[in-house]
Amino acid sequence: MNKNSPIKKCLFPAAGYGTRFLPATKATPKEMLPVLTKPLIQYGVEEAIAAGMDTMAIVTGRGKRAIEDHFDISYELENQIKGTSKEHYLTEIRAVITKCTFSYTRQIEMKGLGHAILCGETLIGDQPFAVVLADDLCDAPDNKGVLAQMVELYKKYHCSIVAIEEVPKDETYKYGVIDGNEIEPGIFMVKNMVEKPEPEVAPSNLAIIGRYILTPDIFDIIRETKPGKGGEVQITDALLTQAKKGMVLAFKFSGQRFDCGSIDGFVQATNYFYDKETKKETEKAAKKPTGAK
Ligand code: G1P
Repeated sequence: MNKNSPIKKCLFPAAGYGTRFLPATKATPKEMLPVLTKPLIQYGVEEAIAAGMDTMAIVTGRGKRAIEDHFDISYELENQIKGTSKEHYLTEIRAVITKCTFSYTRQIEMKGLGHAILCGETLIGDQPFAVVLADDLCDAPDNKGVLAQMVELYKKYHCSIVAIEEVPKDETYKYGVIDGNEIEPGIFMVKNMVEKPEPEVAPSNLAIIGRYILTPDIFDIIRETKPGKGGEVQITDALLTQAKKGMVLAFKFSGQRFDCGSIDGFVQATNYFYDKETKKETEKAAKKPTGAK
């Protein structure tokens, strides 16, 4: 691996069942659930593009074909609305499709997030890459997304990085939790990392959210990582090994994150983006000269 090579690839583990959203997710991938009009995974892809990435590697599973169709042209639909007032609805997704390429592989068995990431190895190769868990939906100030912030940090340290945020202590059981030394404001050198600890044994309340930058040696480490919490191969455990062998950073990002894997988080995200869009529309309307339509 050339540690100076820019991060161009982003991996999306997207094989999970989304049981918390049944029956909606019975025949629709959870990554395709929309916040306003945009599916969760498209927010993630746009965040990756904004961070300079152009290759999206998606680890899918059975029943997930809608994701592939979404990131493709629909000739019939395009033809139908071409030249009509509805054409603009496709502007954003068209831009995404032209800016990057998509490749897919399937995770045949659900053996955990570490295993899902390992399934993406053939799509990634020997280069540093990002990972986005699409159900963690992030929004950041000044259009500098969480991944863009992490890429900047990678350029300085050239090691794996996890994004973290403080959570209430009684919620540590939902997350990977880190312990570390703060080497710069908001940047921790990881000493310990535990997957979903009970509050009494959690090393801190600094929880990992679904944004990672990983160096490719992680693949060999995952291959040797034994199943952990829940009998699954955990990326948290692999990252702890990597931290002990070398260095892993945890980064308190700027911005907001919504847990769209839960109904509460999903509703909060919807309200947040609705308010944001409404504000934008109002500002746009206020700027138009009077009399203009
Ligand atoms: C996964 C990771 C966990 C991390 C979380 C962030 O868990 O295993 O370490 O904190 O994503 O969303 P999951 O939510 O997939 O169970």
